[in-house]
Amino acid sequence: MLLERYLEQLAAETMQRALGLDTLPQALLRATADAKFGDYQVNGAMALAKRLQRDPRALAAPIAEALAQQDAIKTAQVAGPGFVNLTLDDEWIAARLTDALADERLGVDEVAQPQTVVVDFSSPNIAKQMHVGHLRSTILGHALIQLSRFVGHHVIGDNHIGDWGTQYGLLLVGMRRWGNEDALNNDAIVELERVYKLASAAAKESQTFADEARAELAKLQAGDEENLRLWKRFVQTTRATLEQIYARLGVTFDTWLGESAYHEALPGVVETLLQRGIAREDNGAVCVFFNEINEADIAGALPHSIPKKLRKRKEPLIVRKKDGAFLYSTTDLATAYHRRDAFGAQRSAYVVDSRQSLHFEQVFAVARLLGIDTQLDHVGFGTILGDDGTPIKTRDGKAITLKALLDEAEQRTEQLINEKSKEGVLRIGPDQLNEARRVIGLGAVKYGDLMQNRLTDYKFDWEKMIALSGNAAPYLQYNYARTRSVFREGNIAWDGYHAALCTEHPAERALARVLLRFGDTVHRAAHSYQPHLVCEYLYTLARQFSRFWRDCPVLNSQAETRASRLALVALCGRQLQLGLKLLGIGVLDKM
Ligand code: ARG
Repeated sequence: MLLERYLEQLAAETMQRALGLDTLPQALLRATADAKFGDYQVNGAMALAKRLQRDPRALAAPIAEALAQQDAIKTAQVAGPGFVNLTLDDEWIAARLTDALADERLGVDEVAQPQTVVVDFSSPNIAKQMHVGHLRSTILGHALIQLSRFVGHHVIGDNHIGDWGTQYGLLLVGMRRWGNEDALNNDAIVELERVYKLASAAAKESQTFADEARAELAKLQAGDEENLRLWKRFVQTTRATLEQIYARLGVTFDTWLGESAYHEALPGVVETLLQRGIAREDNGAVCVFFNEINEADIAGALPHSIPKKLRKRKEPLIVRKKDGAFLYSTTDLATAYHRRDAFGAQRSAYVVDSRQSLHFEQVFAVARLLGIDTQLDHVGFGTILGDDGTPIKTRDGKAITLKALLDEAEQRTEQLINEKSKEGVLRIGPDQLNEARRVIGLGAVKYGDLMQNRLTDYKFDWEKMIALSGNAAPYLQYNYARTRSVFREGNIAWDGYHAALCTEHPAERALARVLLRFGDTVHRAAHSYQPHLVCEYLYTLARQFSRFWRDCPVLNSQAETRASRLALVALCGRQLQLGLKLLGIGVLDKM
C-alpha cells in the first residue's frame, strides 16, 4: 500500500480506538516540510474537537499516546493547537527501503482500479511548423502518459492532428500554382507553409482566387479523387517531418486520429444534437445555447451537465456554420463518442493550451448532455515567455520553431560540457559527446518545462535550464552519474545490488525520509496531472543526496556501514533514473 494511505489508515484506526468512536474519523495526514515537526503530521484531532466541542489539545493527547505504540512510529507529539507530529521508526523505515531496493518498481504500488485513459496531446496542425506551444503539449503529454501507465492505468496516447479544414482549399490551389515537388519531399512543412502564405495573401487580394479555393475545398470534402490524393500527400509528407522531431524527443503515439478521421461522423452528431433538443438553428447556423437548456428535459443527459459559469455566459457553441461547414467543436464531439465507443475510455485528458479552455468547457458540457460518460479533463497549460515577458519569438519577431530550439539546446549543452571539462568538473570523452549533448540538452529543455506548474506562464531561461546546479535536469543527471561512479570505483556491480539498509547518521536519516516519499509523489503527479511534483521531489532528493555524500564516507567505511550506504546510494540512483525516465528524460552512467 502507498505509504501515506497506510499511515492515514493507521492513524484513523488508532484515533477511533483511543477515543472509542463509533465511526472511523478522518486522520488528515500530511507530509511535513521540515523534519523538526516530525515526518508526518496528523491534523484530524482539530476537526474532530470542533465537532465534539472539546479542547483539541486534550483530544490529541490520547491519540498521540496510542500512535506512539505503533511499530511504524517512533514518537508522536502533540503540537500547536492540536496537531500530532509523527516521527517514523528508524528500523521500520529501513525495512521499507530495503524492500524497495529489491523491487523493480522500487516499491511503488499500482492503483487498485486501473482505468482506460486516452491522452490527447501534441496535436499540431498540418502545413505549419510545430512551435513552442506544441512543445509544451508534447512534453507534458508524454510525461503524463508515462506516469499514468506506471501507476497502472491502460493509457492510449492520441495525436489529434489538425489535418482537415478551410486551409486545405487554399493549399490545393496554391500548390498547383506555386508548389515545388522537390521542396515538398525535402521538408514538407517548410514548403507547405511557404505556399500557404502565398495563397492566403492571394485570397485576400482576389475574390476569384478565394472562390476557387472554396470550390476546391468543397470538392475535397465531397471526396474528389484528385484533391484527396493531393491532400493525402500533404498529410503524409508533413507526418514524416513531424516523426523526425518526435523521434528526436523520444515521443511515441498509440494512434494518430486527426480531425479528418471524424469527417464522416459530423453530420450525424449535428442531427443528434438537433433531435434531442440540445442544439437549435439560429440564423442558419446550428448552435447550443447553454443559458436556454433545461437538463431535465433532455433524455439521457448526465446530471450536472452544464456548469453554472457556462450557463451564465452568453456564448453559444456553434456546431454547424451557415454555409453548412462543420467546426472544431463538432469534430471534438465526434471524437468524444469515438473514444468511448472504440477505446472504452473511462477518462480522456486533453493536453492543450489554456487559451482553449472555453472551447473545452463547452464541448465537455455538450458531451455530458449527450450522455457520454467518459470523464473529460482539460489539462491546460500557460505560455512560454521570452525575456520581454511576451510569448517567446525569434529575434526578428517570428515564432520559434521546435527544431531550432532543440538545436540550440544541444549547442549550448556542448558549450557547458567544454567549460566544465576544462574546470575538471565533468569528464565526458569525445566518443560520448554526441550522446551527452542529446541526453543533457533535450533533458534540460524538457525538464525546464515540466518543472513549472503547468498552468502558469514562465520565462524561458537557457542559463537556469542548462546548469549543473539548481533545479535543472543536468544537476539531477549529474547526481545520478555520481551514484554510478561510487560503484565503478568500488568495482561493485550496480545491477541487482542489494543489501540491508539502515539509517544511523543524521544525513542518512534525512535522506531516507525523502526516499520514502517517491511512490506517493508519483501517484499524486499522475492523478493531478502535475509532473512538476516529480521534479520538485527529484530536486529535493538530489540535494539531500549531496549532503549525505559530503558527510558520509561510503567506500571507506567499515563493512556493514559500507554495504548499507551502498544500498542507500543505489536506491537514490534508481529513483533518479526512474523519476527522470517517467518524465521522458534520459541519464548517462558517466558524466
Ligand atoms: N490542433 C489544435 C491546435 O493546434 C489542438 C488540438 C487539441 N485536441 C483536441 N481534441 N481539440 O490548436
